[in-house]
Amino acid sequence: MAAWDEAVALEFTNAFGGSATWAADAGGRVNLIGEHTDYHEGFVFPAAIDLRTRVAARPRRDGVIRIRSLNLCEEVQAELVHLSPSPMADWRSYLLGPFWALREAGIQVAGADVVVQGGVPFGGGLSSSAAVEVALVALGAAMAGRELESLEVARLARRAENGYCKVPCGAMDQIASACGREGHAILLDCRTLTFEAVPIPSEWVLVVADSGVRHAVAGPEYANRQRECAEGMATVRAAFPDVRMARDLTIERLEAIKSGMTDISFRRLRHAVTENARCLAARDALVRGDGTTLGCLLSGSHESLAADYEVSCPELDVLVQAATGISGCIGARLTGAGFGGNTVNVVEADRTEAFCEDLARAYMDRTGRATTVRVVRPAGGFSVVRLEG
Ligand code: GLA
Repeated sequence: MAAWDEAVALEFTNAFGGSATWAADAGGRVNLIGEHTDYHEGFVFPAAIDLRTRVAARPRRDGVIRIRSLNLCEEVQAELVHLSPSPMADWRSYLLGPFWALREAGIQVAGADVVVQGGVPFGGGLSSSAAVEVALVALGAAMAGRELESLEVARLARRAENGYCKVPCGAMDQIASACGREGHAILLDCRTLTFEAVPIPSEWVLVVADSGVRHAVAGPEYANRQRECAEGMATVRAAFPDVRMARDLTIERLEAIKSGMTDISFRRLRHAVTENARCLAARDALVRGDGTTLGCLLSGSHESLAADYEVSCPELDVLVQAATGISGCIGARLTGAGFGGNTVNVVEADRTEAFCEDLARAYMDRTGRATTVRVVRPAGGFSVVRLEG
């Protein structure tokens, strides 16, 4: 048994008595670039990370699912056959949604006692929700005797988030969490859902810095951005019938019909178009090990997210500005939905320690706030293990 299985299995015994017989884990993700492009069927470039959510379980035969969150010290219990999305989603929805999505897909879990230990900071833009959804879908499927492909686990996990938690997220987070590869970032085409694993040069390290400002993708602003884009897309499609999604749009075409939409829709779509191009260019820069170009693309992404998509906040801007002035920083930008949460920083490996210290100090000096700066390692997707022979 791996050390982490033992730790979470012990937590299971403390919570429910007896022994867990299954364990699973899945990571959060950090997105290098390609932000707010997934629901435009564009490209994203995330990596699963070694901040993981771990779950342990024991089957029951009575159709009851009982899940204990070790982080919240709270428990939720439901009959599997009666699971149905409620209009007011809360933390329970993230724990029950995966079992609802499995049932909807015809995968019958007979019941289970489950403990969940979340290792991804909540509301930090690192996909704590995808990590728990992916781990629970993988666990539930295995307990029902089904071995699902990683992409299918991701699909069901996203279905839980869209259908049960009522969050209109795109495809990125669950696929990154389920399909990650150690040492690699994943260039994902959100139209075809095909991806390429691209190695991150060993001399570069990924660092995330927490603004301490909490965000919620479930809040109204995320859905507002989608609506503002959809309004602009109505004009785009009327002018260019061959354009289906913002991913198909060029900046020249968008400029040509600028007067036919609001300034807000224009700027939102300009971000989607330019970010898609930056994402593909960043993949090439990473492959070439071209830190100068990568750094410019990360800065460009942050500026576009701040000015055109308006999903940054003063604290994230300070973190990015401070980071780019520190020696050894290749590039920095906000990561995830924005409105708070973390920045991602690509840093020269031999400067990492000094970078983390300098960034924490600069953030405190400029905002009076503390930041948690973490080195994150690009990690693999989910794993599921049987704990007894
Ligand atoms: C959240 C969503 C993703 C994606 C990002 C922004 O993480 O869950 O689908 O839209 O925001 O890139």
